[in-house]
Amino acid sequence: MDSLEQIERESITKAAELLLNSKNAVVLTGAGISTESGIPDFRGESGIWMKYKPKIYGSIQSFLKDPSKFWKMAEDIAPTLFSAEPNPGHYAIAALEKMNILKAIITQNIDELHQKAGSIIIYEVHGNINRFTCLGCRASYNKEQIVRKIKKEKNPACDYCAAPLKPSVVLFGENLPNFEKYMSIDLAKKADIMLIAGSSLTVAPVCDLPLYTLSEGGKLIIVNDQPTYLDDRAEIVINHKTGIILPLIVKEIKKIKVEHESETDI
Ligand code: APR
Repeated sequence: MDSLEQIERESITKAAELLLNSKNAVVLTGAGISTESGIPDFRGESGIWMKYKPKIYGSIQSFLKDPSKFWKMAEDIAPTLFSAEPNPGHYAIAALEKMNILKAIITQNIDELHQKAGSIIIYEVHGNINRFTCLGCRASYNKEQIVRKIKKEKNPACDYCAAPLKPSVVLFGENLPNFEKYMSIDLAKKADIMLIAGSSLTVAPVCDLPLYTLSEGGKLIIVNDQPTYLDDRAEIVINHKTGIILPLIVKEIKKIKVEHESETDI
């Protein structure tokens, strides 16, 4: 599946041209961009929700009733999550930001791999896994403290008030953080190009962000190994691995830039 069809090569060139000529491109990433770093996605073949029912393991209602279910899932996933390194897809996105092509990264991911890859303007619309807050006195704990607590406590509790600790990720039934939510809507409205990488586009309100771009006349480039509900409204759809396609788009952009520079040198 890693060989590229001619049609995909043409789409890569077209995507490179669109991004190079854009004025306000942004990228929206999902769990699919981190699978090549070893972190399972949610709805792909071996996704997390295939093993853990989101209603029981991923909703705020179930967390408040019985946090042990969430912590059991977290204990299973944490080692991979905390040790993961960025893959070529993350580095390609960081390169596009460095080239001042991507103005921002809107990510549904909580793994901080965009930060590790060198991206700077990042909006984590579903929070991140490196902060934990006490539901009682709002005390804040970091990842290292929690990893130590999980080993001793079935339900990590606050050292001060003994209330349950909750990771700063958005669970089903919770609102998105206001700043990231409103910034990402604003960016989507202003985007002339939204690159969508590794998301099934199935979870609201984030899956509606591309509609803001379309409603303002912007275009979509979707790189995802499964179809999405917006494929027929996208300018370009490449059903392939982000870790392969995104670096090829960056390579194509650099090639076009060199050709343009050599033409102007004449
Ligand atoms: N390259 C391209 N696409 C990939 C790759 C890859 N290497 N690996 C997986 N995919 C695709 C999957 O086929 C799937 O369509 O990425 C998509 C990931 O979709 P989801 O697992 O639904 O992840 P995401 O879209 O980020 O989910 C959104 O749902 O459960 C909540 O909070 C969770 O942030 C998450 C949100």
